[in-house]
Amino acid sequence: MTSVATAINLITRADAERLSKEAPAASTCSSDLAKGPWEFDAAEALRGLPAYGPGASSADVAPASTPRQGQLPQEYKDASDDELRARIHAAKQTLGDRVVVLGHFYQRDEVVEHADFVGDSFQLANAALTRPDAEAIVFCGVHFMAETADILSREDQAVILPNLAAGCSMADMADIDSVQQCWDQLEELFGTEPDAEGRVPVIPVTYMNSSAALKGFCGEHGGIVCTSSNAATVLEWAFERAQRVLFFPDQHLGRNTAKAMGVPLEQMPMWSPRKPWGGTDPETLRDSRVILWHGFCSVHRRFNVAQIDKARAEYPGVRVIVHPECPMEVVDAADEYGSTDYIRKAIAAATVPTVFAIGTEVNLVNRLAAEYPQHTIFCLDPVICPCSTMYRIHPGYLAWVLEGLVEGEVRNRIEVAADVAEPARVALERMLAARP
Ligand code: 13P
Ligand code: SF4
Repeated sequence: MTSVATAINLITRADAERLSKEAPAASTCSSDLAKGPWEFDAAEALRGLPAYGPGASSADVAPASTPRQGQLPQEYKDASDDELRARIHAAKQTLGDRVVVLGHFYQRDEVVEHADFVGDSFQLANAALTRPDAEAIVFCGVHFMAETADILSREDQAVILPNLAAGCSMADMADIDSVQQCWDQLEELFGTEPDAEGRVPVIPVTYMNSSAALKGFCGEHGGIVCTSSNAATVLEWAFERAQRVLFFPDQHLGRNTAKAMGVPLEQMPMWSPRKPWGGTDPETLRDSRVILWHGFCSVHRRFNVAQIDKARAEYPGVRVIVHPECPMEVVDAADEYGSTDYIRKAIAAATVPTVFAIGTEVNLVNRLAAEYPQHTIFCLDPVICPCSTMYRIHPGYLAWVLEGLVEGEVRNRIEVAADVAEPARVALERMLAARP
C-alpha cells in the first residue's frame, strides 16, 4: 500500500496523462494536494484571506481570526523526502528526551514515522502528560489539540504546532461570541433555577474539537468536554445535572450519540448562529433535550449511504465501520460506528480475514490497510481527499521546528492565556473524571 502522498502524486500524474490520452484514472479531490502546503501559505498571504487549503474542507469559510503560517525557509521547501527524514531524525537524536513528538492518526505517514506517540486527540492529550520532563511537545495534529496539550501540560513546557494554519474547520464553526449570544437567549428563555430534582435548565457540552475559549466557557458554566470515544458517558453526566444540553460544535456527534441513548429526533433542534432563535423557536427549545450546534466535519460529511450500498453489493459480508462525525443516515446504515481508536481496535481484534469498509480520514484507513494485510480494508469514499488542515503538517515544517529547538529557538509555540486555560482545565478534568 502506497502512502496517501505517493498515491496523490501518482494519480495527479495519471490525470495529466489521461487529459492527453483520455484513459480512465482514479482522482483526488484537488490536484493542489500534490503541492507542498507552503505554496498555499504563499497564495494566502497574497490574497490576504485565510483559507483551509486543499483537501476536504477547502470549500468551508475560514474565519478572519484563523491563524496564518509565515513562509517556511526555502531550504525546507527544496529538501527531498529523504533529506527531510534524515534531518528530522538527526534533530530528534540531538534533542533526546528534551522533546516528545505526538502524531494524530490522520497525519500523513511521512510525519507519523517520527512520532513518539500516535493516537486520537484524547490519547495524545494524555500522552503529553506522561512526559513532564520534556521541554517541548511537538504536536503533529491541529490547533485545538495543541491548545489542549498546553492546558494540561506543565507551564514551562512549550507546546509547538509545526504549521500554525493547521486548524480544524469544524472547530471554527462555533466561536465564543456566537455561543455566548446563544447562551444569553437560552438563559432568558429558561431562567437559571434548578427543577425539583436539582437539575439546572441547560448545561453546555463541547466536543474536544473546539477552541480553548469554548472549553473555558463550559468550565465556567458547569459544563464539560467530550471526545468521540466518551460522548455517551459525558451526555449521561450532563443529563444527571441538567434538563437539557447545548452541544457544540458537531451536530452529527451530538445527534448520533443522543439518538443511541433514546433521545427522540424532535427533541434535538438545531441552533444556527446568526438566525433569530437559532432558526428554531422558543416552544421547540423548551421541549428539547439536546440543542445541536450547526457544525460539521467536511471530511466525514463526504460519506453517504450510496457508498455503503455499493460496498455491500461488491463485497457481501463487508463490515462497515464509520466515525460518529458522519451524518446520521450513514451511521444508521453502517454496521458499527466509533472513534478513530474504536475503528483501529475493531480491526486489530478481527481474528479471521475480513473486508472492512471504513468511513473516516483516508490517511488512517490506508495505514490500517498496510498494517493488516490479512484483511481487505478500504475507505468508503473512493476519492482521495484528506483533511485539509491535517495536510498542513508536512515533514518540512516538522524539520523546521525541531531544528529550531536544536538551535535554542522555540518556533510556533501555542500558549493559552491563563484566564482561559483555568476554566478550560476544569471542563477537561470533569471529562477525565466522568465514568460510564
Ligand atoms: P479523534 O478524537 O477520534 O482523534 O478525532 C479527531 C478528529 O478530528 C476527528 O475528525
Ligand atoms: Fe476537523 Fe474534520 Fe479535520 Fe477532524 S477531520 S481535524 S474534525 S476538519
